[in-house]
Amino acid sequence: MRVIGIETSCDETGVAIYDAQRGLLAHALHSQVALHAEYGGVVPELASRDHVRKVLPLLREVMAQARIGAADIHGVAYTAGPGLAGALLVGAAIGRSLAWAWGVPAVAVHHMEGHLLAPMLEPDPPDFPFIALLVSGGHTQLVRVDGVGRYHILGESLDDAAGEAFDKTAKLLGLGYPGGPALARLAGQGDPRRFQFPRPMTDRPGLDFSFSGLKTSAVNTWRAHGMVDEVRADIACAFQEAVVDALSIKCRRALEQTGVRRLVVSGGVSANTALRVRLGEMARDAGAQVYYPRLEFCTDNGAMIAYAGYRRLQAGQAEPLAFSAMARWPMDGLSPP
Ligand code: KG4
Ligand code: ZN
Repeated sequence: MRVIGIETSCDETGVAIYDAQRGLLAHALHSQVALHAEYGGVVPELASRDHVRKVLPLLREVMAQARIGAADIHGVAYTAGPGLAGALLVGAAIGRSLAWAWGVPAVAVHHMEGHLLAPMLEPDPPDFPFIALLVSGGHTQLVRVDGVGRYHILGESLDDAAGEAFDKTAKLLGLGYPGGPALARLAGQGDPRRFQFPRPMTDRPGLDFSFSGLKTSAVNTWRAHGMVDEVRADIACAFQEAVVDALSIKCRRALEQTGVRRLVVSGGVSANTALRVRLGEMARDAGAQVYYPRLEFCTDNGAMIAYAGYRRLQAGQAEPLAFSAMARWPMDGLSPP
């Protein structure tokens, strides 16, 4: 079985082809960063229009890369939510139309299920059950995963997602959009001993997170020191340390509470080097193993959607011709395929 995956939930257009026997055959990604940069953030209408322009050229590109034609495709998977409604509808409309034209089934994929299953594309994939730490721009969740579609949310952010906190803090420190990776780079040059920010919600039981207070700590410290360049790296470092520490403490707690010894970390923030180092130390200490997608599949991509779609299509799931998109879509409402 060969499945096309289409991702258009936010500011990246991703298309990929997954083959049940041979694995990932091809993938292509177009980032809209340059399009939104002058506005300092994602403009939803511009995002939708750009997805319209890019999906089919990227599809032609991956089919050429994989040297396959339409007759070699057995299903189409597209991200149906959560995300920007207009952007999602582009992928949904094109995905359903292709499936209809080619006479193959289409399947709607949950974006966070895509992230969660992304490490399955790697050579040494985790067995079920595992604990997943999903850290993206829109979500921070700890999930117990017992199989495809068998998800139990253990904890989540009560306010900003980890990636959102990175982006907002970066903006407040004048680092522009997209701020997360820029803030992480700057943090690498900072002195971790100079400032100490709180570790939100780590002193009480439970597995929820809260990150919105950290941007206030960062901006207050920045103002108190005259907003000079000289302190910016140290503030970035203190912020990153606090996020990484809070995530690591909750991951350890989730592993201990469940007795599960496999931790999957996925979503844009899983590309963060400091987080990987800290989780590596924590896992060694806790006797657990950590699994990541390769770096380019930590952030949004079509490959994870093709794979998640393949798992559902293979189990017999397919959608009727009518389609919808969900700007909000709780993952614990999913059922096994
Ligand atoms: O998964 P993703 O591509 O999109 C969503 O589903 O939201 O995640 C994007 C998020 C952004 O907030 C971005 O700032 C953050 O991931 N991010 C990072 C890093 N790379 C991306 N945050 C911290 N350190 C990084 N290296
Ligand atoms: Zn994502």
